[in-house]
Amino acid sequence: MKPSTLMMGYGYDPALSEGSLKAPIFLTSTFAFENAAAGKRHFEGITGLREGGAEGLVYSRFNGPNQEILEDRLAVWDGAEDALTFSSGMTAICILMMAYCGQNDVIVHSGPLYAATEGFVAKVLSRFGITYLDFPAGATRAELDAVLAKARAQAEAQGGKVAMIYLESPGNPTNALVDIEAVSDARDAAFPPAQVAAGGSTQECPIAIDNTFLGPLWQRPLEHGADIVAYSLTKYVGGHSDLVAGSIAGAKRWMDPVRALRNTMGGIVDPNTAWMLLRSLETVELRMQRAGENAAKVCAFLQGHPKVEGLGYLGLISDPRQQDIHDRHCLGAGSTFSLFIKGGEAECFAFLDNLTIAKLAVSLGGTETLASHPASMTHLSVPQARKDMLGITDNLVRISVGIEDADDLIADFAQALEHV
Ligand SMILES: Cc1ncc(COP(=O)(O)O)c(C=O)c1O
Repeated sequence: MKPSTLMMGYGYDPALSEGSLKAPIFLTSTFAFENAAAGKRHFEGITGLREGGAEGLVYSRFNGPNQEILEDRLAVWDGAEDALTFSSGMTAICILMMAYCGQNDVIVHSGPLYAATEGFVAKVLSRFGITYLDFPAGATRAELDAVLAKARAQAEAQGGKVAMIYLESPGNPTNALVDIEAVSDARDAAFPPAQVAAGGSTQECPIAIDNTFLGPLWQRPLEHGADIVAYSLTKYVGGHSDLVAGSIAGAKRWMDPVRALRNTMGGIVDPNTAWMLLRSLETVELRMQRAGENAAKVCAFLQGHPKVEGLGYLGLISDPRQQDIHDRHCLGAGSTFSLFIKGGEAECFAFLDNLTIAKLAVSLGGTETLASHPASMTHLSVPQARKDMLGITDNLVRISVGIEDADDLIADFAQALEHV
């Protein structure tokens, strides 16, 4: 069955909950064991004394029914064996990185990344001796080979390993795409076959990718060589700008170390938010399709407007390399894009201050259209030289198109541009 069908019932049996058609919200901090031996067996699984993890519900820092149903359904969308949910996208990303990186290791990542992710690598992990190397999103196979060779040398010099290749594609806020297939090929070539584990991937160096901008509908990175897919569920999956949550998905062998750290640290999504996400998943395809159609209409209007310098929209790519990546990896153009207004910060602020339907707010992927100015908001903490290199310019407005009427949105953008 297709994911859109499975979202209505997969992973939940009403018979186990008094026939309740929808899963109740399980507000409990702990679960009663059938007997003492069952309790012991669960803890053997949780502590790693026995393979396979807990066989039932134990304690709400580890898991709960709402979270388990949600994790099962999220895995369906990405064709993953397993998924884990978290209290925010950043909790997911930070626990993922901490699970895989040890002292003196190197992380290789694409750029741009969401500023908090970039900051976590550069400012927090660095305190534990973990260094990083980054490459521009559109890097070619030759460039990727070069950065991985450099990373290996750096790791050897530090006495560590290349612990993870971390991608964000499309990158926030420019929509720059990463060639996941090329990264996967380069990774497999950089690490000798001896290090390749039974699952087919190199054990030491998983490829993780933040798929928040296009997933789960328009990009399926696990099919292109990524091992772990990460989400801010706050965005398209939650989809109503009313919750904060995150997830990762992939083969169970990649999830297990992260689950173990989550069990220790906490950070699992709460039952109420998990329940809301289950409701959101029932409509995620409908919402994303409509938002995608709206964005295509809005961008057709904005393209060539006299106040517009250009668009960073995946439906109107001008760079052949980026177009090739899009053709191979993406199933749609999304509904979040960059609008480059002729001028700079003042012109962007005039545009933003005069929008009436679109709300001036950071975040994206909700039912309502949002607009923001990354250079002075989400990416304010990024050093100017790096902003310049990544194309996060003062005349960039990031727009996330929602599911309103497209003509109303076009009229709103038209009148706001008149104020520029
Ligand atoms: C691409 C991307 N990844 C991760 C995050 C972080 O997600 P959260 O706000 O749910 O922690 C964001 C938030 O804007 C994002 O845009």
